[in-house]
Amino acid sequence: MPVMIVTGTGTEIGKTVVTAAVAAVALARGRTVAVLKPAQTGLGPGETGDAAEVARLAGPVTAVELARYPDPLAPATAARRAGAAPVGPEEIADAAEKLAAEHDLVLVEGAGGLLVRFDGTGATLADAARLLGAPVLVVAPAGLGTLNMTALTAEALRARSLTLEGVVIGRWPAVPDLAARCNLGDLPESAGAPLLGAVPEGAGALTPAEFRERAVSWLAPRLDGRWDARTFAREADAPGATGTP
Ligand SMILES: Nc1ncnc2c1ncn2[C@@H]1O[C@H](COP(=O)(O)OP(=O)(O)OP(=O)(O)O)[C@@H](O)[C@H]1O
Ligand SMILES: [Mg+2]
Repeated sequence: MPVMIVTGTGTEIGKTVVTAAVAAVALARGRTVAVLKPAQTGLGPGETGDAAEVARLAGPVTAVELARYPDPLAPATAARRAGAAPVGPEEIADAAEKLAAEHDLVLVEGAGGLLVRFDGTGATLADAARLLGAPVLVVAPAGLGTLNMTALTAEALRARSLTLEGVVIGRWPAVPDLAARCNLGDLPESAGAPLLGAVPEGAGALTPAEFRERAVSWLAPRLDGRWDARTFAREADAPGATGTP
């Protein structure tokens, strides 16, 4: 799996933190990792973008940004408003392929959700995934509403013949409510793909050393971690267990 696309059910879902966890685990296994953020919106020059945030948390990855637009909007809109060139799927695929030639793993983090437009033709991250033939990891919220959003994203991937690698919960609450606990069982069915991990709430605020040490316990073996969905669900459900109200 040299290139993997990381998308989410929406924006601010935890794609960056999940990308950092996947990168941290791969680095711990001795792999070389590149992180590509094709279009970084909502930031000016000199501010820390998502790719740099992954490097801060995960460690020595090659962090690449193809374009940056100041408005916190979809890349196509932000590019238009900035009077700047958009980033199209061919450019994304080219950059990812070049990085894949020099790294064991390339993680491509989208902007917002899957069908956010990158350019004036309406191209999306899904088009880049198709050009690359790369699997897609979907980051989803834990609680109420996630089943629908995850099912919609999974259906959009299937409609485009793209491979849904699995789902990772971007922010697992310290005190999971009934919906979150039930979603552990229901998300794989809504997605038609396995649940591949859950990153705990507050992970992004850990020290990089703690983040790197703990990341392996948040991700399933498929992502090179040692998170087990069944054990996690059982512990989340157990009366008196940490995180159970
Ligand atoms: N597990 C977590 N615990 C605590 N805060 C988190 C967690 N995951 C994400 N956050 C915070 O939530 C915000 C959004 O997360 P993140 O940047 O990972 O989202 P995103 O899906 O990558 O958004 P974007 O579409 O802007 O790239 C950030 O401020 C981040 O620090
Ligand atoms: Mg992000």
